[in-house]
Amino acid sequence: MTVPPTEHAPAQPGAVPPPGCPAHIADGPGGATRLYGPAAETDPMGLYEKLRAAHGPVAPVLLDGDVRAWLVLGYLENRDVASRPTQFSRDPRVWHGWRSGEIDPATSPLIPMIGWRPDCVCADGEEHQRLRGAVTAGLDQFDHRGVRRHITRFAHQVIDTFCENGEAELVEQFTEAVPMLTLSHLLGMSDEDAPRLVHAARDLFKATETSLASNAYVLECLEKLVAEKHARPGHDIASALLAHPAGLTDEEVQHHLRLILLAGYETTANLMSNVMRMVVTDPRFRGSLAGGQMTLPEAVEQVLWDEPPLMVCPGRWANGDTTLGGQQIKAGDMLLLGLAAGNVDRTIRPDSATPVHHNRAHLSFSAGTHECPGQDIGRIIADAGIDILLTRLPDIALAVPEESLSWRSSTWARHLTALPVTFAPRPPQSDDLPAPLPAPPPQSNGRPVPPPRPVSAPGTARGPEPRASWMTRLRRLLRGR
Ligand code: HEM
Repeated sequence: MTVPPTEHAPAQPGAVPPPGCPAHIADGPGGATRLYGPAAETDPMGLYEKLRAAHGPVAPVLLDGDVRAWLVLGYLENRDVASRPTQFSRDPRVWHGWRSGEIDPATSPLIPMIGWRPDCVCADGEEHQRLRGAVTAGLDQFDHRGVRRHITRFAHQVIDTFCENGEAELVEQFTEAVPMLTLSHLLGMSDEDAPRLVHAARDLFKATETSLASNAYVLECLEKLVAEKHARPGHDIASALLAHPAGLTDEEVQHHLRLILLAGYETTANLMSNVMRMVVTDPRFRGSLAGGQMTLPEAVEQVLWDEPPLMVCPGRWANGDTTLGGQQIKAGDMLLLGLAAGNVDRTIRPDSATPVHHNRAHLSFSAGTHECPGQDIGRIIADAGIDILLTRLPDIALAVPEESLSWRSSTWARHLTALPVTFAPRPPQSDDLPAPLPAPPPQSNGRPVPPPRPVSAPGTARGPEPRASWMTRLRRLLRGR
């Protein structure tokens, strides 16, 4: 990888840049800036602007372990990279870093983000079309009103677990719970199994000592789901993937179920937390919503512009030497889509304070052939879930000083860790019974289907537990038992 020349180049060796000079931000080898560590995690937006001032629309950066990459900051350059798959591959095996020994695949924390997997994210061309065709068929089979009905049911049930208390912690109890329940239901998990999967999948993200066990549990659940859907297909994503003419193997189906669950959950939860933070901290934002100047879907769009759930999207790899944003990109170089930086690029958004909620041209779902296929579902979950929350608890207010809110940050995203709120206590509304699942179609082989094997979630007692109602078990999980 070359270090950028031209007028944006850092100071000559030996020269001391004057205070305030953008060259001060180069804190790593080769004039590159670390996109990890305290500086990057405390104020990522500030860092992107410094990088833009120093290097223009494409900047040399370092990932964990000082792994070199280019961060694309410009709006047009991001679109360009995402829309030219023959020049910029999505297949990480193109990266020269595997051969040069720049990374240790056995230990690097980057592997979950930049390692190769047998799914549509890591594929180009016809293979990408084959896998993505099955994914989009699985997602597009649901009409929006049907998805909204499920979200409505889950949102009411989740709110019922805390509405009598007069207080709640919205991230744990609402914005993470509703997307995970909705997605696991759309995948085809039974309401019976969903709460434990929710618990394990959320734990997987938190990098706790039980994360590995949780990952194993999620995979076990998905393997079991694939076996069940072979025998008893239903109106769900797992069955659609299995039946798709692209002929996915069971392993490919499992990987794509995991991809959908994980790609959809964290981002949608993040979006809902960001919208709710704006509602309870920004009187103008709340006033526009209450006064009808901005609808809830528009509020969601505004937050997608300002705080993309995924700030940096990994990755693209150059198939050959090329020039981008004035930088010389070498074959095999790694590029990262700077979605948050692109959304505030002054060439398309001269004043970031001007509302843009009518406009969907942001980069938060990326662009090109890999553009998020679940964006409509993500938008509906956020919109419908928050609508129900605000309708049921219209007096919801922040329970702590705004300055005490904190974030968990990485190179890729920033998550609000907690959003404590208060409201007047109210009685629960929904009844305790889940809506019945659609009846399964008759079995094709005529043989009875064995009952699902009981599986224990990490940290819970092994073996079957006494059957508590779905709602009781959900309550326990949301209260951390
Ligand atoms: C607000 C919520 C969401 C955001 C911000 C978001 C954002 C993204 C982004 C930035 C990408 C990467 C595209 C690229 O590599 O260029 C992506 C890919 C993907 N997303 Fe989403 N996503 C969201 C919700 C969802 C949901 C709900 C689902 C599924 C139900 C989903 C499924 C996927 C899949 C399968 C891919 C891989 C597509 C491919 O590589 O062809 N996402 N998403």
